[in-house]
Amino acid sequence: MVRLKLAISRLFHNLFRGRRQTLCLTILAVIAFVPILWFGLEVVPYMLVLPYSQFTYPLEIDFQQLLSHYDRFQAYPRETATINNVSFAVLHPGKNLCQLHRSFLAQQAAPRLLILVKSGLGNRQFRDAVRSTWVNQRNYQRLGVQVFHAFVLGGSVSQTQQVRVNAEQAMHGDIIQQDFIDSYFNNTYKTMFAFDFAANSCQSADFVLFADDDYYVSPTNLAHLLRSLLHRRSDPRLAVGFVFAKPVPKRSPMNRWYTTLSEYPYAFWPPYPTGGAVLTTRALCRRVSLAQRFVRYIRFDDVFLGIVLKKIGIEPEHHGLFYHELLTPVSQQVYGNVIAMHLDRRLNLLHDIWRAMNYSVFDVPVISLATRSLL
Ligand SMILES: *[C@@H]1O[C@H](CO)[C@@H](O)[C@H](O)[C@H]1NC(C)=O
Ligand SMILES: *[C@@H]1O[C@H](CO)[C@@H](O)[C@H](O)[C@H]1NC(C)=O
Ligand SMILES: *[C@@H]1O[C@H](CO)[C@@H](O)[C@H](O)[C@H]1NC(C)=O
Repeated sequence: MVRLKLAISRLFHNLFRGRRQTLCLTILAVIAFVPILWFGLEVVPYMLVLPYSQFTYPLEIDFQQLLSHYDRFQAYPRETATINNVSFAVLHPGKNLCQLHRSFLAQQAAPRLLILVKSGLGNRQFRDAVRSTWVNQRNYQRLGVQVFHAFVLGGSVSQTQQVRVNAEQAMHGDIIQQDFIDSYFNNTYKTMFAFDFAANSCQSADFVLFADDDYYVSPTNLAHLLRSLLHRRSDPRLAVGFVFAKPVPKRSPMNRWYTTLSEYPYAFWPPYPTGGAVLTTRALCRRVSLAQRFVRYIRFDDVFLGIVLKKIGIEPEHHGLFYHELLTPVSQQVYGNVIAMHLDRRLNLLHDIWRAMNYSVFDVPVISLATRSLL
């Protein structure tokens, strides 16, 4: 009897130890698995990248030849097929957006700036805030800069949303819209559309600023920059902004901007100005607009622009007063030295900065389309 009890207790003891061992092993395995998984997903892809010096990207054609052929014949060479010739229906083409104000007709030397604001379809509040602040012509009048502006939108599958956009357009007349689905990873379509518009539909502008709807732009400092760049107003090589010189593609599957090696195998992207605010000339827009159809589509809009610029042999220029991140505090001292800054959707900050900088806030002017050129 005692023996039996002993045997049973030993058995229990062994079983329990066995379980504990299994448990320990399992925990160990899990603990070991995490770094292995991390290593496999986060480290290995970075080890397998190709050096940037080997960069190639479709199409591999002579872009200088393509552009000069177009300049001579107003047509692409027949033997070169496009790789990215998207064509979405245009819902709002933005006719007559770029007519000179009467007060500027005689001022040949005044910079003429088109501001194209990439805006999310549902961001009406952002557009109204921008309309009453940094695209508003009246904030540029005393600075001697002629400004035209448009908001660049994609389309929607929702009929009610489109009705709202149409009403907004009837009120302000400052929307251009193409019928691709308006979503974050269709921003490259939006950018392509914006470049096409700047190139083909706004002959009066010499400078073009591309900006996001959650940015702050200083009219005073922008006017100052334009004046200092007046000698380059027709320069087809001008692309200024906050430039990432050696951007690294994100290889982690958890990352929002995840890029597989088969999609793009190199250690770096070509340099690009962050898409939130880029100042160019219309001459550059024309080249980008002609070339972009021959460059393989990629869903990151600023990366795409960087690739197109590299293809046509243009290096974007970094400017220290273009900010990618928010500066604090909101004071005249800090913001006196900013041309453009990402507010990361914090709309209230735009009004705070505006007040700190003593700019005028204008009610959104309601302009009937027929009379908008005679402000
Ligand atoms: C791009 O597509 C449009 C419409 O589908 C067509 O008219 C145009 O010729 C194409 N452009 C080129 C360069 O192939
Ligand atoms: C981009 O737009 C196209 C055309 O409307 C649509 O088919 C596609 O699903 C959209 N892509 C994303 C990521 O929304
Ligand atoms: C703000 O601007 C107004 C009008 O231009 C001017 O009268 C006022 O002195 C300015 N205030 C400051 C603090 O700069």
